[in-house]
Amino acid sequence: MVQRGLRKGLTSYGDPGFSLFLRKAFIKAMGYSDDALDRPIIGITDTYSDFNPCHGNVPALIEAVKRGVMLAGGMPMVFPTISIAESFAYPTSMFLRNLMAMDTEEMIKAQPMDSVVLIGGCDKTLPAQIMAAASADLPAIVLPVGPMVVGHHKGEVLGACTDCRRLWGRHRAGEIDEVEIETVNGRLAPSVGTCMVMGTASTMAIMTEAMGLSLPGSAAIPATHADRIRCAEATGKAAAQMAVTGGPRPSEILVPGAFRNAMVALQAIGGSTNGLVHLAAIAGRAGQPLDYAEFDRIGRDTPVLIDLKPSGAHYMEHFHHAGGVPHLLAEIRDLLDLTVPNVGGGTLGDTLPAPGEWHDAEVIRPRSNPLKAQGAMAVLQGNLCPRGAVIKQSAATPALLQHTGRAVVFESVEDMTERVDDPDLDVTADDVLVLRSAGPKGAPGMPEAGYLPIPRKLAQQGVKDMVRLSDARMSGTAFGTIVLHITPESAVGGPLALVRTGDLIRLDTAGRRLDLLVDDAELARRAAAAPPPQPAPSRGYAKLFHDSVLQADEGCDFDFLVPDRGAR
Ligand code: FES
Ligand code: MG
Repeated sequence: MVQRGLRKGLTSYGDPGFSLFLRKAFIKAMGYSDDALDRPIIGITDTYSDFNPCHGNVPALIEAVKRGVMLAGGMPMVFPTISIAESFAYPTSMFLRNLMAMDTEEMIKAQPMDSVVLIGGCDKTLPAQIMAAASADLPAIVLPVGPMVVGHHKGEVLGACTDCRRLWGRHRAGEIDEVEIETVNGRLAPSVGTCMVMGTASTMAIMTEAMGLSLPGSAAIPATHADRIRCAEATGKAAAQMAVTGGPRPSEILVPGAFRNAMVALQAIGGSTNGLVHLAAIAGRAGQPLDYAEFDRIGRDTPVLIDLKPSGAHYMEHFHHAGGVPHLLAEIRDLLDLTVPNVGGGTLGDTLPAPGEWHDAEVIRPRSNPLKAQGAMAVLQGNLCPRGAVIKQSAATPALLQHTGRAVVFESVEDMTERVDDPDLDVTADDVLVLRSAGPKGAPGMPEAGYLPIPRKLAQQGVKDMVRLSDARMSGTAFGTIVLHITPESAVGGPLALVRTGDLIRLDTAGRRLDLLVDDAELARRAAAAPPPQPAPSRGYAKLFHDSVLQADEGCDFDFLVPDRGAR
């Protein structure tokens, strides 16, 4: 017999009747009736936290999801999990993503529920929740919290946090004084919700929708908009339906075509490079390692069509009003697998608007007028990155995409912080800034340090971009000619550890190459003389992380969480 509702997961120790009796006795302390408790149970994650302003609307969304569940005859049960906000996660939010994934997976499995609504949004939360759902494989539906509305300053529209960086850069260069930068500080994030540019949060919400894990249109509705509440209600109804039918399960949604659609969407939106790491982690959980060669091929065929910061001009609320993800996907329908299922029923093809339906062609460009002819990202190979590296070419300076320059090496994030603004730093605009010890194990947690600041003395001369490379990640809201996720990272002995200041490095984006122009014999000599690795942490989660974290190409998941990885 299928175990549903409160009967789910009962550990009877020989007397299932008594176990159910006990379970009901305790839950009745909350005042529930037998009628309520006999219904299918829909779990709802609560990731509200005073430390997570991006999730500030979660209580209102939970209320609406519960309403939807009850309208459809189900019983909603809200439960807390870890919440992670970018600005309040030391040492990095990425360090904690797998912890949230483990917490969410185990709570889904431990508690009696027939389906689950995952409410998340700030960068690491949707990836963690989807990784968890893929592993728990209980019917699951995602509800993104939605993006913030835009800010305004002196007639200019501001977006968190592309303009945080841009305006801070102008402050560093002496163009904006202390008083004005404080004023700007209060205007960059004018509402709850996730960053409203095409950062990681927006990228993940859009890829989630493209994969079929959330309802059509759910990614872009602003966090404070009435449509967001209606979307939450509809999500609750769908979750109740899924609880009754027992599907679709994540394993039925996360089919190869869904990952392909996510990759196409990632390229077409000018998405965050972080999206690629998270997609690799989700794919790993689904037992389908991400094909980087295919991702690069997709990028050559897929234009960037969404005109959003930092690659373009607009913001998420404009994308919503322009038609949102369904209209974007309709524009590139020939590149997609339209047969993959949507969590709310039907296939992706069923959810797309009919050809000719209105959308705003300035924000969602037609194929005949793309923002960029090729996709957002390219995957690089070369002797500096034997297992690959990524460049977001859509946010780079075109003239720097083919460049050979002299390396200026920083040993670590601390070393960079100490020296990058030193007036005596030997650096010119033609040099290549190199940062190491900033990968998954090295930092630890692969911080978003890949957006190396332009040395102050060059910034003051008006230098806006340089070729920069590292084993770190970068915020999706940043821009520049920046190579990221160099794999293997320096801390596990990748060739990045061997670069010395003065070496020549060649970036050939068109040829998809990144090379250190130093001969192999010299590199072998340097490798033999390399210092031993840093000692590993001795206890706690830091030890688990250090011992288990995979490289960026495998999504920085923990090795023991990836099915069948032991066999590889
Ligand atoms: Fe939470 Fe940007 S800081 S989405
Ligand atoms: Mg971010």
